[in-house]
Amino acid sequence: MKDLNIRKALLKDQEYLLVLEQKVVEAERPYNSTIKPEGAVYYDLNSLLTDDISLVVVAEVNYHIIGTGYAQIRESKKSLKHSKHAYLGFMYIEPEYRGLGINKLIMDELMDWSKEQGVYDFYLDVYDGNDAAIRAYEKVGFSKSLVEMKINLGV
Ligand SMILES: CC(C)(COP(=O)(O)OP(=O)(O)OC[C@H]1O[C@@H](n2cnc3c(N)ncnc32)[C@H](O)[C@@H]1OP(=O)(O)O)[C@@H](O)C(=O)NCCC(=O)NCCS
Repeated sequence: MKDLNIRKALLKDQEYLLVLEQKVVEAERPYNSTIKPEGAVYYDLNSLLTDDISLVVVAEVNYHIIGTGYAQIRESKKSLKHSKHAYLGFMYIEPEYRGLGINKLIMDELMDWSKEQGVYDFYLDVYDGNDAAIRAYEKVGFSKSLVEMKINLGV
């Protein structure tokens, strides 16, 4: 797409990324009735933007951010063959730019960076029912794995 640019996010982007974070919260609200009605925070953006084990990437059109994603290198479970993996999150594309494959461009950038860190295993969480997101990740090569189950016994 003309004028599309994928780049590393900088600390100066933090204020607008906080706005987009809330759009992810709203996008996921239909899949989880226990998300706080107000003040739900998903990410530690300051750490993601500044530490060495994370990379936040944005997609811009005409210098305006229309998409996001991050990779964070994490310790893996001791039982696994790999000692570290990259966790991917904050996957968001503005509605008018969806279905154009921009998510894949962001994920490719995050996965290339992770491989440069010597990390070749990737994980993410997605709600069952978020079909567009599941499809986007399958197109990048991800397949379904662990299923989280839950119950609320409170009043
Ligand atoms: C998940 C998301 C980042 C995918 O980004 P994307 O760049 O649109 O991904 P793709 O272009 O690969 O499209 C993936 C699928 O979305 C669906 N899709 C296509 N056009 C669409 C549109 N206009 N609106 C919504 N979904 C659309 C299609 O099923 C498409 O698969 P297909 O190409 O095989 O038809 C984006 O849908 C989004 O921001 N969703 C809201 C936030 C969210 O749920 N994030 C995921 C948290 S885990």
